[in-house]
Amino acid sequence: MLTIDDLGDLRGRRVLVRSDLNVPLDGTKITDDGRIRASVPTIQRLCEAGARVVVCAHLGRPKGAPEERYSLRPVAARLGELLGASVAFATDTVGESAQSAVSALQDGEVAVLENLRFNPGETSKDDGERGAFADQLAGLADAFVSDGFGVVHRKQASVVDVAERLPHAAGGLVLAEVEVLKKLTEDPQRPYVVALGGSKVSDKLGVIENLLDTADRILVGGGMVFTFLKAQGHEVGKSLLEEDQLGTVRGYLATAQQRGVQLVLPTDVVAATAFAADAEHDVVPADAIPADRVGLDIGPASAEQFAAALADARTVFWNGPMGVFEMDAFSNGTRAVAQALVDSDAFTVVGGGDSAAAVRTLGFDERAFGHISTGGGASLEYLEGKTLPGLTVLDS
Ligand code: 3PG
Repeated sequence: MLTIDDLGDLRGRRVLVRSDLNVPLDGTKITDDGRIRASVPTIQRLCEAGARVVVCAHLGRPKGAPEERYSLRPVAARLGELLGASVAFATDTVGESAQSAVSALQDGEVAVLENLRFNPGETSKDDGERGAFADQLAGLADAFVSDGFGVVHRKQASVVDVAERLPHAAGGLVLAEVEVLKKLTEDPQRPYVVALGGSKVSDKLGVIENLLDTADRILVGGGMVFTFLKAQGHEVGKSLLEEDQLGTVRGYLATAQQRGVQLVLPTDVVAATAFAADAEHDVVPADAIPADRVGLDIGPASAEQFAAALADARTVFWNGPMGVFEMDAFSNGTRAVAQALVDSDAFTVVGGGDSAAAVRTLGFDERAFGHISTGGGASLEYLEGKTLPGLTVLDS
């Protein structure tokens, strides 16, 4: 992959950077700025090289038209604070505001464009429509740097098509993420232990199949575990269940056994009367969840069991919370897994999205982990062995 060095002297050149600034917001308040912070080094480096930096990104999933709640304005303000510099904000993506913000840039200055997904061309499945939008984006710059690792699995105008239209390079974040994921797929030190959580098995089908080939031990928690427990013949009460995945999950249980992969499921569960922070709750055996209860976390015995299963690992990949960590009463399983990673001597990778947010929300020091990925979906698709269009385009 070409790097920023390959772009030559950047002084006075307009460089379009695709970052992943898709952060959680509560109104206009950013609740976790991890992705913005992760984007700073590449932007800073381009500023120091004298480039006129044009940052583009998406927020949420608006449907091709402006929606105030998905505006990147608060994100641009936070980026300015982190850079310690004033950052211009364009109220459109490729229109008059963007053009005047870009033409006003001096060497080393930064402008952020409004949400890419306010334009239907960004996510269009139609090559022509996407290409037309990419032409407009490319018109704003002389070179393109792809630094939004969290979107490299998306075939979208600002990820793929624009790279085909401008001299391009991978930014430092994309390079660093790929290097880490390569370590996991090519030659992980063993035991290689994977902790998987999150709500749905159906989001993780490909990756589980692949991990059954590469991992030594897989711990399963989070909402998806109830489909595993049900597949083993246990009642799961009102817990999250994907009936249509039961056959697939039974297949995983059988494959794990054949291949000698340890599949570790919780032995106890925190079961509540409702999905609510103040719901009445008890610890119950995982094979005896009462019919009127919903499982919202792994139980304390399972948390210990998971920590023990992580203790001798040399490589750990963790994706997905073990329970509803946003609610204090159901955060202990996630906290225990995070703590086990902190205590471990292994190379530990936290795979994006909710698990990365959990680490920060629960107050862990990010430096205690080997790597915290900014890409949830992207890192899972990489581990699945899929071709990621936003990476492939950077090879040519
Ligand atoms: C993410 O949150 O994983 C990335 O920003 C990609 O967002 P998307 O799933 O809406 O494409």
